[in-house]
Amino acid sequence: MRHLLSAADLDRDEALAILDAAARMHDIQNREVKKLPPLRGRTIVNLFFEDSTRTRSSFELAGKWLSADVINVSAKGSSVSKGESLRDTALTVAAMGVDALVVRHNASGAVQRVAGWVDCVVVNAGDGTHEHPTQALLDAYTLRRRLGDLADRHVVIAGDITHSRVARSNVLLLRTLGARVTLVAPPTLMPSGVSSWPCTTSWDMDATLSGKAHGDVDAVMMLRVQRERMSGGYFPTAHEYAVEYGLSPARLDLLGADVPVLHPGPMNRGVEISSAAADGRRSAVLDQVQAGVAVRMAVLYRLLSSAAPPAAEDTAARGAVQEVAE
Ligand code: NCD
Repeated sequence: MRHLLSAADLDRDEALAILDAAARMHDIQNREVKKLPPLRGRTIVNLFFEDSTRTRSSFELAGKWLSADVINVSAKGSSVSKGESLRDTALTVAAMGVDALVVRHNASGAVQRVAGWVDCVVVNAGDGTHEHPTQALLDAYTLRRRLGDLADRHVVIAGDITHSRVARSNVLLLRTLGARVTLVAPPTLMPSGVSSWPCTTSWDMDATLSGKAHGDVDAVMMLRVQRERMSGGYFPTAHEYAVEYGLSPARLDLLGADVPVLHPGPMNRGVEISSAAADGRRSAVLDQVQAGVAVRMAVLYRLLSSAAPPAAEDTAARGAVQEVAE
């Protein structure tokens, strides 16, 4: 695997290898001294054309804890605001001798285009409404820690599916890992081509969560209503949306006591998720954030170490490389 552009780039073995490596990275994350040498001398640029809190900072920490040099370039404050094209910006940054570009862009397919222009490794950190593969990996990691093997598990993903790159990547990866997915959204927020996706769909939140419509539920993932991507009225009011589709305290009671509740963040409290759900016992929201660093360490390590083996000239570095790789 040269780049990570889509969750579909991962077959089952590859996905499990990343998730297993992430578990070892997670142990390192809990140490007092977190720095390891495997990516020493490597340079990673986070090239973000869209806002981000979790994704960008966790990619930055992941690279730094593996001893890579990491810099952040964001569209605000870069030559993009002077009219530079995506191609020119990507080629300019890559020409500095960069080993990996982690790219987020508001246009679906933009990261794939970047991968075609540059020679270095490219990781998709979210492209438009298309994909966000590392989010799907960290969600799968979080789910596996709560549920164990995901084979035949039933995951409900509810919210603004139309505008969600998280939903698309999750459907692909969860299927690869053998789970069953049901998407729940109002008709206006269900993508038009969804019938070809490997999942079932529903407009009825209560029937789905209670297990009456599609069988018992093992996990629920709530998605943000992405108003910044909406051009018209997809639903009458935020209150109406919350009543029909929000994970309210009453809906939480439809779920089994151990059913984890996920949300990729940022959350719109009171719209798609109540504080009772976001902060309650079932909530896995902060586990997801923690998993984000470990999973991105595993992804960067895997891509960069296969791109060209690190010159592990000293035994300490070699030992650490083996420790995280095995
Ligand atoms: C998601 C994203 O940016 O696609 N957030 C994230 O990466 N943590 C989901 C969202 O913005 O709602």
